[in-house]
Amino acid sequence: AHQWRGVLREYADRLDISDATPIITLGEGGTPLLPAPALSARTGATVWVKYEGMNPTGSFKDRGMTMAVSKAVEHGAKAIICASTGNTSASAAAYAAHAGITAAVLVPEGKIALGKLSQAIAHNAELLQVQGNFDDCLEIARDLAANYPVHLVNSVNNDRIEGQKTAAFEVVEVLGDAPDIHIVPVGNAGNYTAYFRGYSEELARGETTKLPRMFGFQAAGSAPIVLGHVVKNPDTIASAIRIGNPASWELALGAREASNGYFGAISDEHILEAYRILSAEVGIFVEPASAISVAGLLERAAAGQIPRGSTVVLTVTGHGLKDPQWALRTADGSDIKPTVVANDTDEVAGVLGLSKVT
Ligand code: F0G
Repeated sequence: AHQWRGVLREYADRLDISDATPIITLGEGGTPLLPAPALSARTGATVWVKYEGMNPTGSFKDRGMTMAVSKAVEHGAKAIICASTGNTSASAAAYAAHAGITAAVLVPEGKIALGKLSQAIAHNAELLQVQGNFDDCLEIARDLAANYPVHLVNSVNNDRIEGQKTAAFEVVEVLGDAPDIHIVPVGNAGNYTAYFRGYSEELARGETTKLPRMFGFQAAGSAPIVLGHVVKNPDTIASAIRIGNPASWELALGAREASNGYFGAISDEHILEAYRILSAEVGIFVEPASAISVAGLLERAAAGQIPRGSTVVLTVTGHGLKDPQWALRTADGSDIKPTVVANDTDEVAGVLGLSKVT
């Protein structure tokens, strides 16, 4: 029986790997591209969702990490290092564990979701909580990689972007062409850059007729690219994209230019509204940062910027189980407490409002 072999083996001919490259894989990639009828109905476009929460550690980071860790091991690295808002650390820790090397991860103290923290610890990372934000963590990680025997696996490492571009290949394989618009959440803008690269390669290979317009969304309290300046104290409930000085800022501006793209900012309130719509109406559970793709789509549609009948792909980047607390809260911020009932069928039927079939 056929099993998906991970992005390095599936796309070996389109990545810089050779027989000398050890393939460190957990079976990443090959994620579902799902139609989202509820979002199509709301917008008049044909909307698809690329569900990256289905990767082995629950986020798109695994695509880049298989490449970065495989190349690190090829070059003899015994330890990798990264700064992270959570998902990169979970992924780095898992791939390092699989490769039998050490992962050191720097995260902003108290600011990463419990699921992600648990993953990094479970996979035996050397996890340090830095008394600073993500941007501070990245600066330290870069310093360490420049001066100590540790291999940097943040997306400033081009191997990460190379691995992540494979998601665009998968979209093209399913749709038979590029979509008209592709929407992603933006933190460091590495993934925005990676999709643009993947689609550009598909166009050059003659697999598509066009580039999609690349739309990226940042949380309003952490929107340096939209504002055009570094944000010193970025803030948002979407902790994954709480970043004030994106590492791939320049590359992303180039990609926006070349694709006639767009960067927008979304309030936390609208992120959580989109989070509820995606889980309740489409059946896809994501973490808040991922829901910003949906929020961005709805915002652009309301602004009349999504042509009717166009094909739109939304990447949702991380699984809802990583940071589930937001599901247990209503829009006005009160806790949701599931009803308790007696151990009795009639009472359960009554509470459910069911009347007996006669
Ligand atoms: N969505 C999720 C769930 C993320 O974890 C990230 C980034 C992004 C979107 C943004 O991607 O940085 O390529 O623009 N998380 C990084 C981390 C920063 O450390 O896990 P980007």
